[in-house]
This record gives sequence, C-alpha cells and structure tokens, in this order.
Amino acid sequence: MVYLTRVEHFNAAHKLYNKNWTKEQNVAIFGSCANANWHGHNYKLEVTVKGKPSPDTGYFINAKELSQIVKDEITDVLDHRNLNEDIDFLVAEQPTTEILCMSIWQKLLPHLEGKCELHKLKLIETPTIFVEYYGE
Ligand code: NI
Repeated sequence: MVYLTRVEHFNAAHKLYNKNWTKEQNVAIFGSCANANWHGHNYKLEVTVKGKPSPDTGYFINAKELSQIVKDEITDVLDHRNLNEDIDFLVAEQPTTEILCMSIWQKLLPHLEGKCELHKLKLIETPTIFVEYYGE
C-alpha cells in the first residue's frame, strides 16, 4: 500500500458566531473570529489517498485525475466564497476548520469510490493551526 498526497489551495471568508447566544457570549467564546463583518483565510488542503500501484502504470490513481476531482468538488466550490452563507454541504453550522474538514471528507468520498481509498485530509487554516481527519 502506498500513500499519495495532493495539495490544493483556496481562499474563503467566514465568522464563528452562534446565533443562539448574545453578542457578548460570542465574543467571549470566539474572540475576534466572531467579528460581524467576516474575516478570511488562505486555506491549504492536503488530500491523502492510498492504493496499490498498477504494474502497467506504476500508480494507483493518476495524480492529475485526483487533482481535477478535488478542484471540481471542493476547491472550486469553496474558493472566494463565504463559508457561512454560500456552502450547502457543511456537516454542522459553524464553519470551523474542524467542521469544514469533516464536510470536505463527506463531499469528496463518493467521488473517489472505485478509484482509490481516501486516507486522510489535512486542512491548514493558518501556519499555526490545522486539522487532520481520517473519517472516524
Ligand atoms: Ni477564522
């Protein structure tokens, strides 16, 4: 079994805000991430898949094909969007890095079926904060 990672980028805006809380509660929990007029991140997404290389090609999925799937299903959908307002496939309301990463897994998985096995997603929000998800 060998692991292949494809790296993609997208930029998006969001805010962290629980509408069931007061503004003060939101600021206390989320800090400046609760600012009403949004903020943005330059996200980096690492998609790791695994498989056994074919003796004919030497690979188990064409890296260009994997890249195209990630672009079509994920990065083109998220890029230059407002994650709170524009994205219909989030698995929960708050567009945190955690929720976004799990949502990307759910969205991507069916498009890889029969081609390769999705092993790990790593979603990097800032140089010092990232999330890893294994579908568990
Ligand atoms: Ni943020």
